[in-house]
Amino acid sequence: MPEPILQLSGISKRFPGVVALEKVSLEIYQSEVVALIGENGAGKSTLMKILGGVIQRDAGAMRLDGTEIEIHSPREASSRRIEFIHQELSVLDNLDVAANIFLRREPTRAGWLKLIDHRRLYREADALLEKLGLDISSRTPLARLSLAQQQLVEIARAISAGARILIMDEPTSSLTLTETRRLLETVKDLKAHDVSIIYISHRLHEVEEIADRAVVLRDGRNAGSLARSEITRDRMVRMMVGRDLQEFFKSGSGNGSKKNGHDWFAVRNLRTLRYPNTPVSFNVSRGEVLGLAGLVGAGRTEVARAIFGVDAPTEVEIALAGKTLRVASPQDAISQGIYLVPEDRRLSGLIVDFNVRENISLPGLDRYSTAGLINSAKETSAAKEACRSINIKPPSPEMKAANLSGGNQQKVVLAKWLALSPKVLIFDEPTRGIDVGAKSEIYTLIRKLAGEGVSVIAISSEMEEVLGISDRIAVMHEGKITGVLERPQFSEEAVMRLATGGER
Ligand SMILES: Nc1ncnc2c1ncn2[C@@H]1O[C@H](COP(=O)(O)OP(=O)(O)OP(=O)(O)O)[C@@H](O)[C@H]1O
Ligand SMILES: [Mg+2]
Repeated sequence: MPEPILQLSGISKRFPGVVALEKVSLEIYQSEVVALIGENGAGKSTLMKILGGVIQRDAGAMRLDGTEIEIHSPREASSRRIEFIHQELSVLDNLDVAANIFLRREPTRAGWLKLIDHRRLYREADALLEKLGLDISSRTPLARLSLAQQQLVEIARAISAGARILIMDEPTSSLTLTETRRLLETVKDLKAHDVSIIYISHRLHEVEEIADRAVVLRDGRNAGSLARSEITRDRMVRMMVGRDLQEFFKSGSGNGSKKNGHDWFAVRNLRTLRYPNTPVSFNVSRGEVLGLAGLVGAGRTEVARAIFGVDAPTEVEIALAGKTLRVASPQDAISQGIYLVPEDRRLSGLIVDFNVRENISLPGLDRYSTAGLINSAKETSAAKEACRSINIKPPSPEMKAANLSGGNQQKVVLAKWLALSPKVLIFDEPTRGIDVGAKSEIYTLIRKLAGEGVSVIAISSEMEEVLGISDRIAVMHEGKITGVLERPQFSEEAVMRLATGGER
């Protein structure tokens, strides 16, 4: 029996008011892909931050190759060849791609001056990008890349650092189908080159595909582990939530909403700056969930942002309940009851320095104020109700958003819009980074909203999700809607065919 290369034992960590980890153990063997799974707030990121030297444990021991070690900083982790790809991006967007990949490890020319060898820098960076399937030059400034591309740059950085243990904290949460495939292939390739990978993901089919072992955390404790042959979706879910989950998409889809006609909310001839030559038109009826599917770059986010008035479209007609609307800014949209829950919660959804209550009440502040004074009792009770209805953990409105786990941050973003009784609600990747239990809560919530007459547009790159929650699916390809599927026509193949520009 080989020895584990890494052993974490009895690791405990407390934050003020929260026991994040209680005597957690984890062993890693060479060339092993270990999935670390658990609900939002279970302690996965905290455990990995301890291993990565980002934070320090309160108790427990870490052994590398049988020798007890301390890891005081990310740099020290790196020197032990432990690399960490964070859940939230940590790339520097004022530098170019190559500089980000080789930060502090730039290849130097011969000689005592140690000048950076720029030719080699860009050549090596380009080779890595190609391997990851990133079709960009390493001289591109990072700020110009999409979220998904920035995520891949971070992965390239960790790989190029020659990791022996690679920690991936939700690496695919902002990637789409094709990019995810490439990443999974990269993980298999690294494993074949003796790298051990700790893989955190809420996308359980990824875990089924690549993990040799799954270690489950629940409420900061070890909840068990599954060997390769035992890793099935059902067993993982049961171990994560400690009970059986009811059927995922028992949705009341197609709930007679059609009686209000498809033209309740109508978007006509929308031309975005990115795709000025392909006008997009579609309708959503009252109480209907329209899924918007497509590959990365298909133009879905642009459509959402244009409707919400973030990017001025070059041209569009929007009508709600037969009335033509003018939407020149998000304020216009909000005042007419149209809301967007954006895909990048850190940029446009959440103010991490504010607490949960402040975040939730922010967009509707005038509802909690009289003559300019905020009625804080009303604000607090609304926030408490929101925390309860979508199960934000911990359910305390005074918690600073920065201290919530990733999935719970996403729930706060949702809560903030739900508190506003919307007429049209656009979700851009609503369950990114959200665990299975909370996901099904959010789907129920979306259906409930639709049931109350809200028109929902849901952009999603998760196939299962888009097929599960939608009444109809509009599929986009290169700025065009290539087809609209009705429920009886729903299938993974039909969506993929349209998403890649094929015929119905
Ligand atoms: N800096 C901090 N201050 C206070 N509490 C914290 C801090 N960091 C994490 N926590 C708390 O510790 C617990 C574990 O959080 P952690 O981020 O490890 O969860 P996670 O398993 O990674 O969840 P997710 O799937 O949502 O990313 C949560 O209750 C979280 O709110
Ligand atoms: Mg996390």
